[in-house]
Amino acid sequence: MAQRRELIAVMDFGSQYTQLIARKVRENNVYAEIVSHRISARELKKRKPIGVILSGGPASVYAEKAPELDPAILEMGVPVLGVCYGMQLVVKHLGGQVRGAARREYGRSNLDVCDSADLFEGLPWSLVAWMSHGDSVEKLPVEFTVLARTRDCPYAAVRHTGGSIFGIQFHPEVHHTEHGSQILRNFLYKVCGASGSWRMSSYITEAIAEIRAKVGGEHVVLGLSGGVDSSVAAVLLQRAVGGQLTCIFVDNGLLRKGERDSVAETFGRQFDMDLRVVDAGERFLAGLKGVIDPEEKRKVIGRLFIDVFREESRRIADVKFLAQGTLYPDVIESTSAFGGPTSVIKSHHNVGGLPEELGFELIEPLRYLFKDEVRKVARELKLPHALVVRHPFPGPGLAVRIVGEVTAERLALLRECDAIFIEEIRRAGLYEEIWQALCVLLPVQSVGVMGDERTYESVLAVRAVDSVDGMTADWFRMPHEVLDRIGSRIVSEVRGVNRVVYDISSKPPSTIEWE
Ligand code: XMP
Repeated sequence: MAQRRELIAVMDFGSQYTQLIARKVRENNVYAEIVSHRISARELKKRKPIGVILSGGPASVYAEKAPELDPAILEMGVPVLGVCYGMQLVVKHLGGQVRGAARREYGRSNLDVCDSADLFEGLPWSLVAWMSHGDSVEKLPVEFTVLARTRDCPYAAVRHTGGSIFGIQFHPEVHHTEHGSQILRNFLYKVCGASGSWRMSSYITEAIAEIRAKVGGEHVVLGLSGGVDSSVAAVLLQRAVGGQLTCIFVDNGLLRKGERDSVAETFGRQFDMDLRVVDAGERFLAGLKGVIDPEEKRKVIGRLFIDVFREESRRIADVKFLAQGTLYPDVIESTSAFGGPTSVIKSHHNVGGLPEELGFELIEPLRYLFKDEVRKVARELKLPHALVVRHPFPGPGLAVRIVGEVTAERLALLRECDAIFIEEIRRAGLYEEIWQALCVLLPVQSVGVMGDERTYESVLAVRAVDSVDGMTADWFRMPHEVLDRIGSRIVSEVRGVNRVVYDISSKPPSTIEWE
């Protein structure tokens, strides 16, 4: 995305907290974007950042293939804050030394502040900081002053005499660091001179302007799934280029009850978009016939989706652009700070996964946002509340919630169970407390008794999880009376299921979906 005014560039050295830094900066009303650690000073300069934050990272600065920093970045005259590994890199480049510490410092540490001129202005002299490092600075370059220390770390925060390069060994971005957000805020406002004018609404205005500039008079297609990401992307595109947008919704037959109608109603009627609904259920079912292996299912569905999408988009004249609701986590899941391959747990497929071979130019207006930020944008855009809070739903749909073969009958069964499950969760007022809730139809039959009859029917697993980003999750502590209603309603109302079990696994070691 093109440069924005008052940009903070967060350079990613592979820390699991990089995204959190960007997010905390935005929460302080300054726009932040994550950039690769490979960016050169020249490229960075073009983006005109008002400050640069160097993230932490798992490597050791002297290790072979450790992610490096273009040292010219330290001479750009733009304020730099190095966090953990980022600080160690700064020290290494400016003539200091970093060593494996005698003692690893991990978790909470007491930080004693000895200079509160800028970063620590307005903060107590002693506070709890969260540390996570094996290496530490052994020798500080001469031009640096110490701002804070802990028992094991004499250089917990340092400042270059020039006044605009800082290093901190702890993590201000994590929740456990007291006043962490204030420390970042001090960097942004007192060191970088930010004005704090950025708001989520600015994101919308800027995104729309950028889309307009890029698209000109050309035509755009967008794969709409009905989820919040593609919906927000669609509404942004519509606001930007109106009639030049066509949305394609592929009904793969693997959707939940009422989903297709609600998408058609919301986007086709309420938002008055040019929406093409493609009825491809039969085709997907045929492709999935006899397929049991989860990865194979995902591949079949992914391939068919592309075929159907391609065929439909060819019916629209002169399409130049493909818009999609790719989010920042999708971007980092597929690339790593070291550029190496990340291990494939599941080959995710979503409408954001269309390949380049389609031959369109990409527009990804959400690629720097996190899910909760997209929800904020959705609210600003006045998308229906139900859509804004909708639980995530996987691209391969109910197919990955049917263990074993996907058939029309098993789909129908699962759809009914899912509708009851979600209805009861809503009725109990829990829908928005739960991150995701789903039913899984098992290829297991069990004996039951109904009336005086013996039954031999399917087992259904129900699962609800707490999560922030889907990367880790814990099972939701569902009240027993709600579980009770769910279980008895499903067994009595859905013919073909005589037993319901509740999944109490967390991720890791399990995953959220069963396949
Ligand atoms: P797992 O099962 O990997 O799921 O713990 C994490 C989150 O990702 C969703 N998910 C998908 N989303 N395409 C998607 O768009 C997919 O292929 C896919 N597989 C899993 C899952 O529902 C959960 O929210």
